[in-house]
Amino acid sequence: MTAHRISLTQYLVEQQRQHGHIPGQLRLLLEVVARACKRIAISVNKGALGDVLGSAGSENVQGEVQKKLDIIANEVLIEANEWGGALAAMASEEMEGIHVVPNRYPQGEYLLLFDPLDGSSNIDVNVSIGTIFSVLKKPDGAAGVSEADFLQPGSQQAAAGYCVYGPQTTLVLTVGDGVAMFTLDREQGSWVLTQHGVQIPADTKEFAINMSNQRHWAPPVRRYIDECLAGKDGPRGKDFNMRWIASMVADVHRILSRGGVFMYPWDRREPNKAGKLRLMYEANPMAFIVEQAGGAATNGRQRILDLPPGGLHERVAVVLGSRHEVERVTAYHLEAG
Ligand code: AHG
Ligand code: MN
Ligand code: MN
Ligand code: MN
Repeated sequence: MTAHRISLTQYLVEQQRQHGHIPGQLRLLLEVVARACKRIAISVNKGALGDVLGSAGSENVQGEVQKKLDIIANEVLIEANEWGGALAAMASEEMEGIHVVPNRYPQGEYLLLFDPLDGSSNIDVNVSIGTIFSVLKKPDGAAGVSEADFLQPGSQQAAAGYCVYGPQTTLVLTVGDGVAMFTLDREQGSWVLTQHGVQIPADTKEFAINMSNQRHWAPPVRRYIDECLAGKDGPRGKDFNMRWIASMVADVHRILSRGGVFMYPWDRREPNKAGKLRLMYEANPMAFIVEQAGGAATNGRQRILDLPPGGLHERVAVVLGSRHEVERVTAYHLEAG
């Protein structure tokens, strides 16, 4: 890095001052989330030395076995965000209902949703994991706060971001003015701006999907992947590469860094669920970030950010990343009727 380093605090102050993008309360809230991510990073890094690996022996509302770090990260985010005065309530993958800010603290204007620990199956094998978050404004005029206040389409997000705990710890953020990346300087304990105006190339030769589910996919997804696999001699006329980390944060981070298309489609294993990933704290924040970087995000048919949520833990099919590929997959679905 060059001598002049821009910190997260300076970036946010400038967003507030020059661009009028963020009110003071939102700035404070984002700083607190970033601080919580730093604390989660410390636990993640301790690994076997910190008694943070393995299962907690409990299940979340979606029937997934909770890992110790799922619970630790959830608690860190709640504790860090309760007292600041910017939030009215929080919702998380690991909690069935909303967590209202206790009345010993002032109630703020914002709502925070998070996937405290994304990529749980990678924790114990020392592969990149992350935290995903989405910020909404509490609807005007509502007395108190309820779950219904959270059920806004993703296009209403005031901010979204994720932190990836990998070889570097990187925070990626949008407040609706492009995408900025901050790398954690461990010695200083500070977030340093390392990229801004992030752009996803519109074309790519790399896809990300869990191929082991191939036999369960719907025809439009099979068609798209079959064409990629056919390579240079097939209809696409080029060879494709494949990556699947199984942490959405890490897969999306690669796509923001060098392009690609990420898919977790509907499949026949659970026909009554729209997909595996959760709309409100996985798909919406990632779709906002990806669109802000010039990419696209759909459920195969519609723009993710336009979908009206029916519940906090609603699931959705996800196709996101390089714009031309997402448009192609979406067209295949629409053609299929
Ligand atoms: P989480 O660990 O928060 O429950 O999310 C896991 C998600 C996502 O990160 C990833 O893309 C996907 O599950 C991986 O699913 P498969 O194991 O089915 O590939
Ligand atoms: Mn989970
Ligand atoms: Mn997740
Ligand atoms: Mn999770």
